[in-house]
Amino acid sequence: MISSPSRLSLFPTSCRVNPSGNLEICGFRVSDLAKEYGTPLYIYDGSTIRGQAAILETLLHENYGKNAEIAYATKAYFSLAFARELGELNLGADLITIGDIRVAQRANLDPDKLHLHGNNKSAEEIDAALGWGVGAIVVDSLDELTYVESIAEKAGKKARIWLRITPDIQVDTHKHIQTSHAASKFGVHILDGQADRAIRQAMTSNWVNLVGLHTHLGSQLRDTAVYEEAISKMYSLAEKAGFITEEFSPGGGWGVRYIEEDPFINPRIWIEAISKQIKTECEKRGWPLPLLVIEPGRFLVAQAGMAVYTIGSQKDTPDGQHIIAVDGGIADNPRVALYSAKYTALIAERADTANEVHTRIVGKFCESGDVLIEDILLPKATRGETLAIPVAGAYQLSMSSNYNFATRPTVLWVEEGKVEVMQKREHPDESPWWTG
Ligand code: LLP
Repeated sequence: MISSPSRLSLFPTSCRVNPSGNLEICGFRVSDLAKEYGTPLYIYDGSTIRGQAAILETLLHENYGKNAEIAYATKAYFSLAFARELGELNLGADLITIGDIRVAQRANLDPDKLHLHGNNKSAEEIDAALGWGVGAIVVDSLDELTYVESIAEKAGKKARIWLRITPDIQVDTHKHIQTSHAASKFGVHILDGQADRAIRQAMTSNWVNLVGLHTHLGSQLRDTAVYEEAISKMYSLAEKAGFITEEFSPGGGWGVRYIEEDPFINPRIWIEAISKQIKTECEKRGWPLPLLVIEPGRFLVAQAGMAVYTIGSQKDTPDGQHIIAVDGGIADNPRVALYSAKYTALIAERADTANEVHTRIVGKFCESGDVLIEDILLPKATRGETLAIPVAGAYQLSMSSNYNFATRPTVLWVEEGKVEVMQKREHPDESPWWTG
């Protein structure tokens, strides 16, 4: 009998609580992995990622047909070993920096399924993407369009591009992860005619080949209406400019559950809505259906990842709060400080013990905002026990830092009967900051 069955449902799908009350992932005791590899430790469950990818593939197939691809938003989490796993899954990817491009090249990802994003690409990044022949450079502004044209001309190679369109729509999510409103720094805005000008400039350019339109509305979204509205606005824009798009991407952004209280919103409604809207727009104009590319990040990897810490100091504050400090915090997970993100947790050795103590989980870094969970009911904890936080797979490690000279954690990939180290813990002696 476990104390929090619905809490367990947030963990990777291979997680179980064994008869002695220990949390297991793929049959491995989480507390044993913590002892063996040290903490903080991040663990990715291969079967959860494969499951999430399969859900989206099936939905795309059923609702849109075969002319659809998934391009993983690598900003959610990326590393060389992880890129190789992506290749096995046959997924495409979104890249942002020269670092992403190099990792994708080392992992031998198929360049046709890659897109170079970003609102301020460097000449080196544009050149590398052009030279390697990525599927599309996603041009973010009128200024960048001219810049890409000039780099392509110098290289003597026409750039295959998408235009990132900003439909000037307000989405319901944290302010820092909204990207489609009129003040957004991303994309060419429809509202003031920039998007129209960009399409016309690209269509008549000698150095770019405009093949697609793209938008990304924001992250952790749950409402399909904003996708429908964006698609409709983008097709009207394309029609006005006389551009029939071969490829179309409504971005990523579909939300996931972080805590028990979060409702599960089936991704079926997302894929159904975007598929239906694109089909309606094309039918209305007698246009062929474009290649549909969705760009999920969080949906693919968030639940697959678990963060594991060792419990250290505890105290009670005069205002009656019990505090547990763990050996990680804001350096490996800045999301609580940045987006007021909410998490839950289990004590891995006693996942079946009743939760009775109101607890604040804090990190070990010199910052009052270094909090992982503001208020959670947990069993009474003991120093040395293991704390496991689920839904840690997206935007934690990829946004981690060396604050207070923290070393970035070891990352494991687990499969049935197999544990692989995807990333070794950073070692102080390897950092020029320590060694000079
Ligand atoms: N496509 C583009 C162009 C994006 O910029 C993003 C995310 C995605 C796709 C994937 O979005 P997703 O499906 O993961 O929501 N650090 C924030 C999230 C930033 C998202 C940045 N762009 C967080 O921790 O919530």
